Amino acid sequence: MVCKACTCLINGQARQICGIPVGQLKHTDEVITIEGLADSVRQELHPMQQAWLDIDVPQCGYCQPGQIMDAVGLVTDIHAKGRQVTEADLDLFRNECRCGTYPRIREAILQGAQAMKIPTHHRVHKKRRRRKHRGRGAHKHS
Ligand code: FES
Repeated sequence: MVCKACTCLINGQARQICGIPVGQLKHTDEVITIEGLADSVRQELHPMQQAWLDIDVPQCGYCQPGQIMDAVGLVTDIHAKGRQVTEADLDLFRNECRCGTYPRIREAILQGAQAMKIPTHHRVHKKRRRRKHRGRGAHKHS
Protein backbone atom coordinates (compact mmCIF):
# COMPACT_ATOMS: atom_id res chain seq x y z
CA MET A 1 0.00 0.00 0.00
CA VAL A 2 1.23 3.49 -0.83
CA CYS A 3 0.47 6.70 1.07
CA LYS A 4 -0.81 8.54 -2.05
CA ALA A 5 0.76 11.83 -0.93
CA CYS A 6 2.26 12.18 -4.42
CA THR A 7 -1.07 11.91 -6.26
CA CYS A 8 -1.26 13.99 -9.43
CA LEU A 9 -3.68 14.09 -12.33
CA ILE A 10 -2.54 12.40 -15.51
CA ASN A 11 -4.99 13.11 -18.31
CA GLY A 12 -7.56 13.96 -15.64
CA GLN A 13 -7.12 10.70 -13.72
CA ALA A 14 -5.68 10.67 -10.19
CA ARG A 15 -2.48 8.61 -10.23
CA GLN A 16 0.31 7.97 -7.75
CA ILE A 17 3.32 9.18 -9.67
CA CYS A 18 5.84 7.56 -7.32
CA GLY A 19 5.12 4.33 -9.19
CA ILE A 20 5.20 5.67 -12.75
CA PRO A 21 8.58 5.85 -14.50
CA VAL A 22 8.94 9.08 -16.50
CA GLY A 23 9.65 7.00 -19.60
CA GLN A 24 6.08 5.68 -19.49
CA LEU A 25 4.63 9.14 -20.03
CA LYS A 26 3.89 10.30 -23.56
CA HIS A 27 4.57 13.83 -24.77
CA THR A 28 0.83 14.26 -25.20
CA ASP A 29 -0.01 13.31 -21.59
CA GLU A 30 -1.27 16.15 -19.44
CA VAL A 31 0.23 16.04 -15.95
CA ILE A 32 -1.23 18.37 -13.31
CA THR A 33 0.44 18.67 -9.93
CA ILE A 34 -0.94 20.45 -6.87
CA GLU A 35 1.12 23.48 -7.92
CA GLY A 36 -0.67 23.67 -11.27
CA LEU A 37 -4.16 22.79 -10.08
CA ALA A 38 -5.47 26.35 -9.78
CA ASP A 39 -4.06 27.26 -13.21
CA SER A 40 -5.90 24.27 -14.68
CA VAL A 41 -9.19 26.04 -13.92
CA ARG A 42 -7.77 29.55 -14.51
CA GLN A 43 -8.54 30.65 -10.96
CA GLU A 44 -6.52 31.76 -7.98
CA LEU A 45 -7.53 28.54 -6.23
CA HIS A 46 -9.21 25.40 -7.53
CA PRO A 47 -12.67 24.94 -5.91
CA MET A 48 -11.33 21.91 -4.04
CA GLN A 49 -8.42 23.94 -2.65
CA GLN A 50 -10.89 26.63 -1.57
CA ALA A 51 -13.02 24.01 0.22
CA TRP A 52 -9.88 22.73 1.96
CA LEU A 53 -9.15 26.25 3.21
CA ASP A 54 -12.76 26.99 4.19
CA ILE A 55 -12.95 23.83 6.29
CA ASP A 56 -9.38 24.18 7.57
CA VAL A 57 -8.59 20.54 6.79
CA PRO A 58 -4.79 20.18 7.24
CA GLN A 59 -2.99 19.37 10.42
CA CYS A 60 0.70 18.61 9.67
CA GLY A 61 -0.01 19.00 5.94
CA TYR A 62 2.10 16.10 4.67
CA CYS A 63 -0.69 14.16 3.00
CA GLN A 64 -2.78 17.12 1.90
CA PRO A 65 -1.61 17.72 -1.70
CA GLY A 66 -2.35 14.07 -2.47
CA GLN A 67 -5.70 14.26 -0.69
CA ILE A 68 -6.75 17.28 -2.76
CA MET A 69 -5.55 15.83 -6.06
CA ASP A 70 -7.23 12.49 -5.40
CA ALA A 71 -10.41 14.33 -4.38
CA VAL A 72 -10.39 16.28 -7.67
CA GLY A 73 -9.89 13.03 -9.61
CA LEU A 74 -12.69 11.31 -7.72
CA VAL A 75 -15.16 14.16 -8.19
CA THR A 76 -14.23 14.55 -11.85
CA ASP A 77 -14.89 10.82 -12.44
CA ILE A 78 -18.21 10.92 -10.61
CA HIS A 79 -19.36 14.09 -12.37
CA ALA A 80 -18.40 12.55 -15.73
CA LYS A 81 -20.95 9.86 -14.92
CA GLY A 82 -23.53 12.63 -14.47
CA ARG A 83 -24.11 12.20 -10.75
CA GLN A 84 -23.23 13.81 -7.42
CA VAL A 85 -20.73 12.52 -4.85
CA THR A 86 -22.33 10.32 -2.19
CA GLU A 87 -21.28 9.20 1.27
CA ALA A 88 -20.68 5.74 -0.26
CA ASP A 89 -18.18 7.29 -2.68
CA LEU A 90 -16.38 8.90 0.26
CA ASP A 91 -16.22 5.54 2.05
CA LEU A 92 -14.03 4.32 -0.84
CA PHE A 93 -11.68 7.32 -0.63
CA ARG A 94 -8.55 5.75 0.84
CA ASN A 95 -5.73 8.26 1.18
CA GLU A 96 -3.79 7.85 4.36
CA CYS A 97 -3.65 10.75 6.83
CA ARG A 98 -1.56 10.00 9.90
CA CYS A 99 -3.10 13.02 11.63
CA GLY A 100 -6.62 11.66 11.18
CA THR A 101 -8.19 14.59 9.37
CA TYR A 102 -10.68 12.25 7.68
CA PRO A 103 -13.92 13.92 8.87
CA ARG A 104 -12.76 17.30 7.55
CA ILE A 105 -11.53 15.71 4.31
CA ARG A 106 -14.98 14.21 3.71
CA GLU A 107 -16.64 17.55 4.40
CA ALA A 108 -14.24 19.38 2.09
CA ILE A 109 -14.74 16.92 -0.75
CA LEU A 110 -18.50 17.41 -0.57
CA GLN A 111 -18.12 21.20 -0.56
CA GLY A 112 -15.53 21.15 -3.34
CA ALA A 113 -17.70 18.83 -5.42
CA GLN A 114 -20.62 21.27 -5.16
CA ALA A 115 -18.41 24.05 -6.46
CA MET A 116 -16.94 21.91 -9.26
CA LYS A 117 -20.38 21.20 -10.75
CA ILE A 118 -21.34 18.47 -13.18
CA PRO A 119 -20.17 19.35 -16.72
CA THR A 120 -22.82 21.14 -18.76
CA HIS A 121 -23.07 18.48 -21.48
CA HIS A 122 -24.21 15.92 -18.86
CA ARG A 123 -26.82 18.27 -17.46
CA VAL A 124 -28.16 19.05 -20.94
CA HIS A 125 -28.17 15.34 -21.80
CA LYS A 126 -30.01 14.51 -18.56
CA LYS A 127 -32.55 17.31 -19.17
CA ARG A 128 -33.19 16.00 -22.68
CA ARG A 129 -33.68 12.49 -21.32
CA ARG A 130 -36.08 13.78 -18.68
CA ARG A 131 -37.98 15.82 -21.26
CA LYS A 132 -38.11 12.84 -23.59
CA HIS A 133 -39.28 10.60 -20.73
CA ARG A 134 -41.90 13.14 -19.66
CA GLY A 135 -43.03 13.43 -23.24
CA ARG A 136 -43.46 9.68 -23.49
CA GLY A 137 -45.27 9.51 -20.17
CA ALA A 138 -47.64 12.29 -21.19
CA HIS A 139 -48.30 10.48 -24.43
CA LYS A 140 -49.23 7.26 -22.66
CA HIS A 141 -51.68 8.96 -20.36
CA SER A 142 -53.45 11.13 -22.94
S1 FES B 1 -2.45 16.21 7.83
FE1 FES B 1 -0.77 15.14 8.74
S2 FES B 1 -0.69 13.27 7.61
FE2 FES B 1 -2.52 14.20 6.92
